[in-house]
Amino acid sequence: MAKRIFSGIKPSGSLTIGNYIGAIRNWLDFQDEYEAVFCVVDMHAITVPQDPKTLNKRTIEIAKIYLASGIDPKKSAIFVQSQVAEHAELAWILNTVARVSDLDKMTQFKDKSQKNGRESAGVGLYDYPVLMAADILLYDAEKVPVGEDQVQHVELARTLAKRFNNNFGETFVIPEPFVKKSGMRIRGLDDPTKKMDKSSSSEYNYIALLDDAESVRRKIKKAVTDSGSEIIYSEEKPALKNLINIHSFFSEKSPKDIEKMYAGKGYGEFKNDLAEIVVSFLKDFQQKYNSYSDEEVIKILKEGAEKARLIAEKKMQEVKKKVGFII
Ligand code: AMP
Ligand code: TRP
Repeated sequence: MAKRIFSGIKPSGSLTIGNYIGAIRNWLDFQDEYEAVFCVVDMHAITVPQDPKTLNKRTIEIAKIYLASGIDPKKSAIFVQSQVAEHAELAWILNTVARVSDLDKMTQFKDKSQKNGRESAGVGLYDYPVLMAADILLYDAEKVPVGEDQVQHVELARTLAKRFNNNFGETFVIPEPFVKKSGMRIRGLDDPTKKMDKSSSSEYNYIALLDDAESVRRKIKKAVTDSGSEIIYSEEKPALKNLINIHSFFSEKSPKDIEKMYAGKGYGEFKNDLAEIVVSFLKDFQQKYNSYSDEEVIKILKEGAEKARLIAEKKMQEVKKKVGFII
């Protein structure tokens, strides 16, 4: 059996350079060695309220971003989660394996339910990690490339896979999270204690992959910096460290070299250069993005779903047999 990887992003906002650096960029390296399955996880998106028209548009937008990033539909399957019904089906069965105590540990739920209180949080939001486990286990994925914040969810998928295998016999491959070192967490431009987040309420938190050049310049200019004026890469200067990380990713220079380049220079010059580096990356990126029509993408997604379904259906048959369902 081919070694497989699975990953996905939910269409709940406009993807940021954080998503690119922390997730998508790392997926590309797997395409040749692994059978790669990349999903737009719309069923995860609706665990918080979404405007249906916007959700629809964003689902296609994310698929286009996958393609513009270099994911090749000839090598990898690109598809939409809700188009392969087995995801929901397996999630239900895994719900009977997961415990309340497993889900009570999940920090993402704690964070996301904080705003309005646990009591009014949706059951779907609470159950989110079980659906994610279903995504992964359905494809016998060995590796799951994600950003640091998703590692806990992949750990849960491991736990559920082991528990299921114990209860019903060997069925699932135990997946491993894959977090690349350079796939570090990119912080919010307005607040380095938080991650850069596509769902942030302030547009000054993030740079979207589809931002125009003027917005990028404006946002970087406004980005918070730490006290002092020197360009130093240190834990004590988290805002600057974050900006240097972004510079380093796009310029392919080490933080140490960047420090040297800006010795004796101030934040202004550093920020100007950073903005131009990002603008230049986004220009090429958006050119590729715009080269795909919606119709073309919908067709690619349909073919991707067909590929994915072949794997998912087979696995579901096995799971159903194991739990004693008549098939
Ligand atoms: P999300 O935007 O939270 O739906 O995350 C989608 C994927 O991008 C996950 O693998 C995240 O870990 C990754 N990701 C999201 N935001 C960041 C960030 N600021 N820095 C690094 N990775 C991120
Ligand atoms: N929960 C992930 C995120 O917010 C998205 C996701 C859903 C996912 N299913 C997945 C990631 C399966 C990896 C594998 O980023």
